[in-house]
Amino acid sequence: MFVTFEGVEGSGKSTQMARLRAALEAAGRTVCLTRQPGGCALGQTLRGILLSQKTAGLDDRAELFLYLADRAQHVAEVIRPALAAGAVVVCDRYTDSTVAYQGYGRGLDTTLLQTLNAVAAAGFVPDLTLLLDLDPAVGLTRATSRNAAAGTAEAEGRFEAERLEFHERVRQGYRALAAAEPTRFAVIDAAPGPDAVAEAIWRVVAARL
Ligand code: TYD
Repeated sequence: MFVTFEGVEGSGKSTQMARLRAALEAAGRTVCLTRQPGGCALGQTLRGILLSQKTAGLDDRAELFLYLADRAQHVAEVIRPALAAGAVVVCDRYTDSTVAYQGYGRGLDTTLLQTLNAVAAAGFVPDLTLLLDLDPAVGLTRATSRNAAAGTAEAEGRFEAERLEFHERVRQGYRALAAAEPTRFAVIDAAPGPDAVAEAIWRVVAARL
C-alpha cells in the first residue's frame, strides 16, 4: 500500500506521519517512512539546493526539474523496492506537491505537470493521499516557530518566505486536486489538535488496509 501526505507548510505532516507509522506497526505492518525531496542520497543533495534561501534566482522550470529528478530517483531507489517487499510506503509529499506548488503556486501549466509527473513517478500512483487541509496563515505561523526552534530558519526557509497569497493558491490547488480525485484523496481538517487529527487519519487508513 502506497500512502502520501500532502498539505501547506506547517500542516502537521511530520507529526502525523510518525503517529501513523506507530499505528501501522502496532497493526503488524512493515512501514517505509520517506519523503520528497530528500528520501535518497541524490534527493538529499537536491533538497539542500531546493530549500536553501541561499539558492538565489532559481528559474521556476529549473526548480521543477530538480523536484522531478528527486522523484524519479526516489521511486527507483526507495518506493518501488519497498512496495515490492510488501511494505506500506508512507511518503511526505509526492506528485500532488508539484501540481500544487509549481502549478497553482508558481503558475506553470498543470496539464503539462501531470504528464511530467507521470514520467518521473514511472506509474507509481498512491493508493491513498491524505491532504492535511489548513489555513496557510495558521500553518506558516506553526512552521516559522518550528524552524526557529530547530535552528533551520535560514536553511529551510525558501518556501516559508513566499507571500501568503502563494500559499493560499497552493491550498486551493490541493483542494481542486482532491475534488478531481475523491477516491484517492482523503481531506483531513488539520486545525484540531494532533490527537484528533491522528484519529481521523487512522479511521481512513484502517478502512483501506
Ligand atoms: P518539506 O520540509 O518537506 O515540507 P514542510 O515544510 O511542509 O515540512 O519541504 C519541502 C518543500 O518543497 C515544501 O515547501 C514544498 C516544496 N515542494 C515543491 O514545491 N514541489 C514538489 O514537488 C515537492 C515534493 C515539494
